Amino acid sequence: MQTRVIELDPLENNRRAIQEAAELLDKGEVVALPTETVYGLGADAFNAEAVARIYEVKQRPGFDPLIVHLHHAKLLDTVASVPAELSAVVTALTRQFWPGPMTLVLPKKEQVPDIVTSGLPTVAVRVPSHPVMRGVIKALGRPVAAPSANKFGHISPTSASAVKKELDGEIPLILNGGACSEGLESTIIRPQIDEKGRPVLFILRAGPISREQLKKIALVRKPQASTSAPGTDAETPHPDSPGQLTSHYAPGKPFILLEDPTSFQPVAGLRYALLCFEGDGTSELERSYDWEKIVEMSPGSGRLAEAAVRLFALMRQLDEDPEVDVIVAEPVSEIGIGVAIMDRMRRASSKRE
Ligand code: TXA
Ligand code: MG
Repeated sequence: MQTRVIELDPLENNRRAIQEAAELLDKGEVVALPTETVYGLGADAFNAEAVARIYEVKQRPGFDPLIVHLHHAKLLDTVASVPAELSAVVTALTRQFWPGPMTLVLPKKEQVPDIVTSGLPTVAVRVPSHPVMRGVIKALGRPVAAPSANKFGHISPTSASAVKKELDGEIPLILNGGACSEGLESTIIRPQIDEKGRPVLFILRAGPISREQLKKIALVRKPQASTSAPGTDAETPHPDSPGQLTSHYAPGKPFILLEDPTSFQPVAGLRYALLCFEGDGTSELERSYDWEKIVEMSPGSGRLAEAAVRLFALMRQLDEDPEVDVIVAEPVSEIGIGVAIMDRMRRASSKRE
């Protein structure tokens, strides 16, 4: 199959490209679409066969459910049932964070095919803010199921060229909307009523909407570790957030998140690259070793939001660099979106530790 890439014009409405993508989705094809977080591999969420094709292209295991994307929050009740006790908190969340990088896990409506939710009674829903993504969903007239547009376990693509490297020849179309403005996948939240009858937000995946922001709306908790069966290892899917395997986001090369800089023991003959936060002499780590290469997440300014936007692209760049054997990453502070950055870097490094 030939994969066509259509270049979008940020100053234009891109109506033809949107129409073309929607027509392919309508026919049951899967296409790669830009969102503000990462590129998505979309299919008509109400077409079980088309959704099955996503799993096939991604080589994704069937136990890992997909996010359903809507073009407007008013359509939430077409895919999810909001329990009356959660109605106020869900309204507050959607008013504040949609369209945007927030995914809500809620009881699913029957018309959502089981293959979308991997048979779970809940569905993950998001209203993205990217105008082209919303345009495509609106033109299709049905919700779009879309995981990140990478092969299972790989780093999520934040550019059309990264999608092409992952899926060239396997999908008919990629809409190129340039670099994603958030750069990390959405925050996934499951609102629930606690034992005292209060609404509580469980963060199933850290992301651009931070814990601090959510705390202004309701109590926030991490899913309890006790919900995992005792003795299970990190590769076992968490029953509440089935896709959160530790080995996600793995570059092909060894990736070491150096939480304790004194523990770094380079092996002679290997070429190490440093992925540092700010650079410009601000990090001890930078001076402590003769790095083959140094790249900065937020060069010179040390802003976590910029680091989030650039993280996956830099991880891919170092992974593809023929002069680098091992990637060493400097930790960032776990404040705001720093929590999500550290989450992704821990997952990337967990595989070989
Ligand atoms: O920003 C994003 O969320 C991007 C863009 C394309 O929207 N999508 C994305 O999708 O990151 P994906 O499939 O790579 O990650 C979705 C995550 C998985 O970890 C999955 O397990 C979880 O959402 N998920 C989906 N449905 C769920 C459910 N019913 N309950 C708990 N977790 C769920
Ligand atoms: Mg993914």
